[in-house]
Amino acid sequence: MPAKLIDGKAVAAQLRASLAPRVARLAARGVRPALAAVLVGDDPASQLYVRNKVRACADTGVRSEVHAFPADAGATALADRIERLNADERVHGIIVQLPLPPALDAARLLASISPAKDVDGFHAQNLGALLQGRPRFVPGTPAGVLRLIEHAGVPIAGRRAVVIGRSTIVGKPTALLLLQRDATVTLCHSKTPDLAPLAREADILVVAAGRAKLVGRAMVKPGACVIDVGINRAADGKVVGDVDFDAVREVAGWLTPVPGGVGPMTVAMLIANTVEAAERTLD
Ligand code: GUN
Repeated sequence: MPAKLIDGKAVAAQLRASLAPRVARLAARGVRPALAAVLVGDDPASQLYVRNKVRACADTGVRSEVHAFPADAGATALADRIERLNADERVHGIIVQLPLPPALDAARLLASISPAKDVDGFHAQNLGALLQGRPRFVPGTPAGVLRLIEHAGVPIAGRRAVVIGRSTIVGKPTALLLLQRDATVTLCHSKTPDLAPLAREADILVVAAGRAKLVGRAMVKPGACVIDVGINRAADGKVVGDVDFDAVREVAGWLTPVPGGVGPMTVAMLIANTVEAAERTLD
């Protein structure tokens, strides 16, 4: 039997709908949640991601502002803008769309965002809180991955989870979230020798390596839950994940499609964090 597909678009729409009463409660208290997105340069993918975020904000009643800078923007101009946004009471969440042009020090800029407005969850204070097992703002993609696994009804506690990819914004936090749910977690990466037998042990396999078709049928345990975080452009222009969809569908128990799996969840989680940031200003 082919894998059940986990519909990220539908789960994200459900999540966004569940935010409506919270946005209404905030409105009743005179607060309109707002997200500020800082976009540097003219990378088409980054522009598309920011447009998607702006649209999702509008759908959810969240105000958004885009702060666009040219690719040669200086670190001081960007730091000044972040400082202004940190101080602006009408702004509850701030994100800097990544990647930044190589001349800029991304870590330094992210560190200048107030942790209370860091709705991407990339600030060391928020990542540290996650490491300590008392998460505040969790990065959207890992949070979305966990939601999809839960939505599918896949048990996590006591199961073997393998995460392929060790980025700070996806792989590492995903491994921590799975560990918090009592999975036994293996974190693999580009220097892991002999990936296939490790991947095949996974009841839950999360692939965030950025390589099209990295995971084929032989790397998947029959019945496993496979979450594909990859977004790659195939030779024919199509967007494909890191998993060989047609082959793995034949063996996995659950599988997320690309597009329409993890991607919409990332955005929905960001909006949820923005609403939460606004709620916290009233605590
Ligand atoms: N670039 C790739 N993923 C993300 C994300 O989740 N947030 C931001 N700000 N940039 C990204």
